[in-house]
Amino acid sequence: MEGFRLVDIDENHTIEKQIKRGFHKQNSFGSEAFREENKISLDLTYMFDSPGNGSITIKDVELLIPHVNKAHQMLRNNEGNIHDGGLPMTGWLDLPLKITEEHIRDLKAVTDELCGRIDAFVSLGIGGSYLGIEATFRALTHEYFNQLSREQRGGAPEIYFLGQNMDPDYFRDTLDMLEGKRVAINVISKSGTTTETAVAFRIMRKLIEESFGANARQMIFATTDKEKGALRKISDEMGYRSFEIPDDIGGRFSVLTDVGLVGLAMARIDIEEFLAGFRNMREITLVDDFWKNPSLIHAALRYAAWRAGKKIEVVATNASSLYSVARWMEQLFPESEGHEGQGMWVSPSFYSEKLHANGQMIQEGERNIIETFLMLNEHDNQIKVPGIKDDLDGLNFLDDRGLDMGFVNKRVIEGPAYAHYQGGVPNMTIEIPGRNAFNLGQIYYMMEKSVAISGYLMGHNPFVQPGVEAYKKAMFALIGKPGFNEQARKMESDLRQIKRIKI
Ligand code: PA5
Repeated sequence: MEGFRLVDIDENHTIEKQIKRGFHKQNSFGSEAFREENKISLDLTYMFDSPGNGSITIKDVELLIPHVNKAHQMLRNNEGNIHDGGLPMTGWLDLPLKITEEHIRDLKAVTDELCGRIDAFVSLGIGGSYLGIEATFRALTHEYFNQLSREQRGGAPEIYFLGQNMDPDYFRDTLDMLEGKRVAINVISKSGTTTETAVAFRIMRKLIEESFGANARQMIFATTDKEKGALRKISDEMGYRSFEIPDDIGGRFSVLTDVGLVGLAMARIDIEEFLAGFRNMREITLVDDFWKNPSLIHAALRYAAWRAGKKIEVVATNASSLYSVARWMEQLFPESEGHEGQGMWVSPSFYSEKLHANGQMIQEGERNIIETFLMLNEHDNQIKVPGIKDDLDGLNFLDDRGLDMGFVNKRVIEGPAYAHYQGGVPNMTIEIPGRNAFNLGQIYYMMEKSVAISGYLMGHNPFVQPGVEAYKKAMFALIGKPGFNEQARKMESDLRQIKRIKI
């Protein structure tokens, strides 16, 4: 039997883009026309006056404008509750201007050199040391990237992620994908002590040392604090190529630092274009005019909704490529906002899939939900829906009218936006013109600024995460890490008081 053939199916344009990026390095992101074509817009049609209880009005938002403007001013002046370890954690605000061409050139030279020597690259990290890299990688590359040929990947090695969980099966399966290949890693940890990353690093380091002997050192990159922490020490002692995470930028705000740039350059993502997106949105969100500043609008809408009793934000997208960005937002917002009994739970959702699951709850469940849609306006590919003889499902009209799958996919947002609004769920749509690094940079910067403003509005510090530190310590105590004996004793005594229930 002959194999499956792609009759009447166009070339995959995501692959074409990867090849262009990787080998031809053309970019046009500097032009006015490009910026114009890649304007992110907010559609607030279904945000206000939704039926039922807990709706928000435009008046609610207008009343917030003076507070939002004040917060914006304080953020720019480095004022207020924004410190960690004595430092204002706002280094990300002007970072887009501080990254020099020289830095990008050096970074590309280092990653290009490694790229030529390896088959697979593994990024080790968790939270802010992982999600932004994976989100950007998945947003801009083929769904089955590692199964493509090297040529189709634009010359990039296979890309994997480890250190974001402690599941031995996941780890073991990943090792199968790496066996026999020339493997390099980038271990990323600002603190240098996160258990998941440290365990993954130990295992990978040992395997690399055993596989490559004297060359092992050249297969390991480390990205960490410039002075402090175990990873800095190991890296300096071993002579690994290392990258620095700035003191005044926390993990979830660090995708534009070397935390993100190294892995993205390895995947042949255009990091200059990525930077240009950050720069553009920085400029857009500098303005004081509230209704022209998407970060301020986004922050105010979410805050107004939260005050009106909306405790869950479903961040839904119709693009697999943007689902990972929704997952990045799932970290950025709750880790920054979840303080002192406050904050909105972010639930990333890929539609249509989730419409047949949490869609029921959104339409008719407890009215404590808002929805933020990440709508991809232009997919890389278009696929025709063919007409067929019997037309039993009644869909021949799509072919008759020349409507393709992408046309239907837009309605996967527009339909729920209307229906959920009628059901009492205010929603906004963030329209993202297309899949490119510029747009990713724009979205990240817009969201980072929005969550910073949210911190001022709620009255807490969005740049710390003591709750996450609490779990890290409890875990150290439970696994018996030296130095955590007191915590372990306290836990034992607490656990004696708690009635264990196992059925
Ligand atoms: O945003 C944050 O600060 C966290 O999510 C951290 O990135 C995460 O806990 C990983 O920490 P580290 O980079 O120190 O290993």
